[in-house]
Amino acid sequence: MLNAVERKIEQFIEELQDKEVSSLYKKLPQGKRLRAKLILKIAGSSLPVVKTAAVVEMIHAASLLHDDVIDDADTRRSKPSLNALYGNKTAIMLGDILYSKGFFELNNISADVSKVVSNAVTQLSLGELKDVSLSSTFNLDREIYLEMIYQKTASLIEASSGAAALLAGKPKEVYMTYGRNLGLAFQMIDDILDITQDAQTLGKPALHDFVEGKTTLPYIYLYEALQDDEREKLRSLHAKALSKEEQGWILSNMKTHKIIERATLEAKTLIDEAIAVMDAHGETALSGIAKEMIERDF
Ligand code: FPP
Ligand code: MG
Repeated sequence: MLNAVERKIEQFIEELQDKEVSSLYKKLPQGKRLRAKLILKIAGSSLPVVKTAAVVEMIHAASLLHDDVIDDADTRRSKPSLNALYGNKTAIMLGDILYSKGFFELNNISADVSKVVSNAVTQLSLGELKDVSLSSTFNLDREIYLEMIYQKTASLIEASSGAAALLAGKPKEVYMTYGRNLGLAFQMIDDILDITQDAQTLGKPALHDFVEGKTTLPYIYLYEALQDDEREKLRSLHAKALSKEEQGWILSNMKTHKIIERATLEAKTLIDEAIAVMDAHGETALSGIAKEMIERDF
């Protein structure tokens, strides 16, 4: 059924009747289509459901195009990013085109669905701004980190579940809780993988987040666990290119203090809660997608 979503996105792009846009879209590496999978699992595969899934994936693709420009990322999913291949201007404009066409199509679905999804896009943008601002500080506040990842990542996954529930006539809030937990756990795992995966698997340099100034959950926990002089050392390494020795120092301290285990457990707890909420509503099929999220290794 995911195929129907791909065809719908292609149809929306073809309707623009622009060869350059069609060819650029084909260059984008396809993601896991997690949001579309979630929508189809909750709401089936009627035309409005497929359209909603297509629109959400177009918005997601647009946000990543912009994010790669903002983050100066040369790669996306282990392939050269669109900004690396064609420059920032092209990447931003393709993002704008996907986003605005998606929004146009969203208006043809239903006012309720449109509200849930458009509100999430505002959250997404606020979250991205917060992520950028926080990167110039050494943030050690877990609550601020959680709020930022909620806005940047969980809001669109939460809205995908909520929109699907609306289309299926299911209780919106319950599904939004499920999506929110999934989204928070997804970003936590993403941030953990930035530390645990080698650069080749990840398609970007090791400890990239910290070098970029991002103090994700493991760094917040590591700081808490360190002695005063070690805390100063960690602070001094923030937002700088790291030597092999400095990378090793961070990684061995993460190991000593079992930081990755602690952060992974936090993500796992959110997933377990999400599964419990769905099980309580007889939606056992939704456990699988939650597990898939926690078990991914890239
Ligand atoms: C990835 O974060 C970024 C996001 C999940 C959201 C980006 C949102 C915007 C740019 C604003 C919305 C814009 C439009 C056009 C809808 P990351 O950098 O932590 O993850 P990564 O490792 O995948 O790059
Ligand atoms: Mg990024």
